[in-house]
Amino acid sequence: MRILAIESSCDETAAAVIQDGTQILSNVINTQIELHKIYGGVVPEIASRKHIENINAVIEKALSDAELTLNDIDAIAVTQGPGLVGALLVGVSAAKGLAFALKKPLIPVHHIKGHICANFLENPELKPPFLCLVASGGHSHLVMVKEGMEVDVLARTRDDAAGEAFDKVSRVLGLGYPGGPAIQKKAEEGDPNAIRFPRVNMGEDGFDFSFSGVKTAVLNYLHHAEQKGEEISVANVAASFQEAVIDVLSEHLIACAKKYGVRQIALAGGVAANQPLRERIKKKAEEHQMFFQYPRFSLCTDNAAMIGCAAFYEYQKGNLADMTLNATPNLPL
Ligand code: KG4
Ligand code: ZN
Repeated sequence: MRILAIESSCDETAAAVIQDGTQILSNVINTQIELHKIYGGVVPEIASRKHIENINAVIEKALSDAELTLNDIDAIAVTQGPGLVGALLVGVSAAKGLAFALKKPLIPVHHIKGHICANFLENPELKPPFLCLVASGGHSHLVMVKEGMEVDVLARTRDDAAGEAFDKVSRVLGLGYPGGPAIQKKAEEGDPNAIRFPRVNMGEDGFDFSFSGVKTAVLNYLHHAEQKGEEISVANVAASFQEAVIDVLSEHLIACAKKYGVRQIALAGGVAANQPLRERIKKKAEEHQMFFQYPRFSLCTDNAAMIGCAAFYEYQKGNLADMTLNATPNLPL
């Protein structure tokens, strides 16, 4: 079965063709990062307009890279939400148009399920159950993934997402957008133990996250230094902030896996591209004799291949949409 998948929830216009769930025949991503950089973050209105300009060409390239035509496609999949409403609408409208014209099934996909499925693209042999840490610009969840991509959300963030904290701290440090890769790079020159930023712990059985405290602590540290006329080391702040976030993400993931007695853990979402985070979890997983799965870098950040993979599961469960499908910015998991 060949699925043409479309993703446009934020600032990447993406289309992919996925065969039988996990075989990537093509995976095209047109990123708008350069455009949003000058504003220090994604401008929703600009994102929507760029999606409109790019989407047809991106879909055509996904087909031509796969050496297929629309007639070879069995179903159309699209990210329904969550995301920016105007951005989502472009993908949803394109998918509806294609499904209607081709008389093919239309499969709506939850963006977070897509991120989780990047792990099946990386390793088609991966068998649930596993506990997945999903950390992106909009989400920080611990999700128990069961057979057939059924999911239980065991923890979420009470305020900012991990990626959002990276982006905000990067902005105040003058390191630009997106913050994650910029902070990771700067942190390489710094000492992760130079400044002790807070780690929020929700108590013994509480696995929820909170990142607004660490973000505010960085802001306070910078203001304080400015008032006193003290020089700061951007590299040390970046490294110490990153260390605090990695500590919390990795500790909650392992503690939650232990509590629920699951021996397989996984990583997903843009923050999963963070190399020191991957290394820390790898080490902890070895210590606790857990199997650790993570997607290659290009499948961590937004892409349509992961949406095509998640769509395969939805299709098997009969979760199809009709022409009333709408973009759902706050779609619950
Ligand atoms: O999954 P994604 O592409 O979009 C959302 O669904 O939000 O994630 C984007 C987020 C941004 O906040 C970005 O700063 C973060 O992922 N990110 C990283 C890294 N690469 C991207 N965070 C930490 N380290 C990285 N290397
Ligand atoms: Zn995403």
